[in-house]
Amino acid sequence: MSAAKIGIIGAGVISDQYLKNTTTYPDIEVVAIADKVAEKARSQAEKYGVAVHGTNEVVLDNPDIELVINITTPDAHAEVANQVVEAGKHVWNEKPLTDNLETAKELLANAERHGVRVGCAPDTVIGPGWQAVRRVIERGDIGEPLTGQILFQSPGPEKWHPAPDFLFQAGAGPLLDIGPYYLTAMTQVFGAVSRVSAHGSRAHDTRTIGSGPRAGESFDVTVPTHVGALLEYADGGKAQAVFSFDSAISRTTIEIQGTEGAIVCPDPNVFGGEVVLTRNHEKESTVVASVEADGQGRGIGATDMLRSIRAGEDHRAPGRQALHILDVMLTAQSLANGEQAQLSTSTVKPALLPEGWDPKVATL
Ligand SMILES: NC(=O)c1ccc[n+]([C@@H]2O[C@H](COP(=O)([O-])OP(=O)(O)OC[C@H]3O[C@@H](n4cnc5c(N)ncnc54)[C@H](O)[C@@H]3O)[C@@H](O)[C@H]2O)c1
Repeated sequence: MSAAKIGIIGAGVISDQYLKNTTTYPDIEVVAIADKVAEKARSQAEKYGVAVHGTNEVVLDNPDIELVINITTPDAHAEVANQVVEAGKHVWNEKPLTDNLETAKELLANAERHGVRVGCAPDTVIGPGWQAVRRVIERGDIGEPLTGQILFQSPGPEKWHPAPDFLFQAGAGPLLDIGPYYLTAMTQVFGAVSRVSAHGSRAHDTRTIGSGPRAGESFDVTVPTHVGALLEYADGGKAQAVFSFDSAISRTTIEIQGTEGAIVCPDPNVFGGEVVLTRNHEKESTVVASVEADGQGRGIGATDMLRSIRAGEDHRAPGRQALHILDVMLTAQSLANGEQAQLSTSTVKPALLPEGWDPKVATL
């Protein structure tokens, strides 16, 4: 076997992380990069030594490409992912899977019809940090997991992102942009969500871009920028979550309490970190796992997909999981907007990666 050829569509901010990683993973060869703005694709191709660049057809029409990483903005996720599956290629999508439930369900059905797979970010949960969380829980350090807490607060990304409008509009906001990391992490422990309640608010109707060529330009905010949610899981777990772009204080917390103790978990927006255990009635806390990202970053989900396809196994960040997370987020958002909503999806519990799994060691 040999390295799998892939293409990338979307040459924006996050493409640097994908290109930096995937061009060093030996099981992957990035053969083409596209963007609707061909110049952006050219500049990234030159920076990372990708041979072919242009608009989407340079990826879609290349018969050698097996999988495409779709890192366009959320409003384009469905359209581009459908083009990929209709070209007979597997697709790895950035989060959220799409910006509404119907297009997300149609995408998964379309992929099935074409005999190809859909994977979706976040792949942070298959990074060493969250795989360590799962191992700590599975070996019984906290007893039976009972409850989870998520707190994500920041003043919002409009100061540093050069094109942040999409992060405050349909398909994003703190819930749909940041929520996937934390909500997907919780489902690794508690499984499918069965009930959600939520409230929401919006501190500002417009925001101002703080960097890049459009600095000083204002844009409309059309989604809640603070959402509080209570989550009940089908297997009995409970969690509470806050996702906010309306906070002067920047803070990230994700914790899981079990029958015997609690763990503070690594931030599931990154790949490594520490798991810190406090046993019931003990004052001291212990670091029970400490793992570096060690070169694992955005792109390991696509690597796991390709390895799993070759091995005939399920990949660990499947579209079905992302569909369920989207359902949870849209249900919470609808409740946050004062509407009624009901979940219509479930999820799978992806398998742990084998100990020592490494995207930097060739296996294909
Ligand atoms: N920026 C981050 O820190 C970050 C982190 C993790 C995940 N993400 C996710 O990555 C995705 C992209 O985010 P970004 O920050 O790179 O956005 P961005 O706006 O910087 O880049 C998106 C790129 O997609 C291109 N594009 C849009 N529609 C297209 C289409 N139909 N065909 C081809 N190209 C198209 C745009 O021209 C742009 O170059 C989003 O889903 C986002 O949630 C971003």
